[in-house]
Amino acid sequence: MPFSDYKTALVTGASSGIGAAVVERLRRENIEVHAVARSAEALQQLAARTGCVAHVIDVTDRQAMAELARRVEFDILVNNAGVDRPKKFLEADEGDIDLIVDVNLRAVLHICRLVVPGMVARDRGHVINISSIAGAYNFGGNSSYHATKAGVSMLSNQLRIDAFGKRVRVTEICPGRVATDIFNHVHGDDPSIRERFIDGFELPQAADIADAIAFAIAAPVAVNIGHMEITPTLQVMGGLQTAKPQPSAKPDQSAAAKTDQSGEPSP
Ligand SMILES: NC(=O)c1ccc[n+]([C@@H]2O[C@H](COP(=O)([O-])OP(=O)(O)OC[C@H]3O[C@@H](n4cnc5c(N)ncnc54)[C@H](OP(=O)(O)O)[C@@H]3O)[C@@H](O)[C@H]2O)c1
Repeated sequence: MPFSDYKTALVTGASSGIGAAVVERLRRENIEVHAVARSAEALQQLAARTGCVAHVIDVTDRQAMAELARRVEFDILVNNAGVDRPKKFLEADEGDIDLIVDVNLRAVLHICRLVVPGMVARDRGHVINISSIAGAYNFGGNSSYHATKAGVSMLSNQLRIDAFGKRVRVTEICPGRVATDIFNHVHGDDPSIRERFIDGFELPQAADIADAIAFAIAAPVAVNIGHMEITPTLQVMGGLQTAKPQPSAKPDQSAAAKTDQSGEPSP
């Protein structure tokens, strides 16, 4: 369905990274975009820059999300808000598990509950769920994160069945490492975090993910792009090794020497 058939979008986790890039991309298509996150200042700046409608809401606030879903008929829903905690499962505390489940999975389920029935009734809609390669592969990340992203992945498959017979499309976007601030949000603001996860790597940018989402939305209505796994070219799953490109391949500077398999975070 071309963009012109859609009028409104809800994007969660819009204050930074992939969410902010999706808002920018959808605004370029003249979609009325409702941007949800907790950081008021970042959202206000995004609204000033793009003309989106900012909503300072925690996605786990069911009442506030229900009120928003009651007021606006959404054609596009982008479930993007996500969190992680760096701890291994054997060291996990109660709060970490609750937070990861509440934001990454429970909120996604409730927002779908609030929005998808309207799409089905109108015979028009597109749900984009941002999962992660963590939902499909093991690489020693936080097990709660892996579990919630696998849940989002299965939900995406199942939603298509629940909406079967109507023109409601469901796309799961499954990113590997993307150059966003998620690593600082997960591990803290120490400059070494950027160096460890971003600097020197060739990574997809948030705008690349937004472009992939736009491609799925712009496809003809007869076409449902169900799943897109988007990784850096220089990243593989299955042990998850991430390589820095080396201009001169001295043996001790080879890609293998630069791999980092210790305590990989979310992506
Ligand atoms: N970057 C990667 O490498 C990567 C890889 C695979 C999957 N992903 C997934 O992609 C999505 C976006 O990640 P990103 O890289 O763009 O990370 P990010 O820059 O940390 O953005 C996360 C967004 O989620 C929002 N958020 C967190 N908790 C929230 C809550 N309770 N209510 C509302 N909003 C909340 C944050 O806004 P506030 O703090 O302002 O609320 C922020 O806008 C996540 O689901 C992540 O798991 C990312």
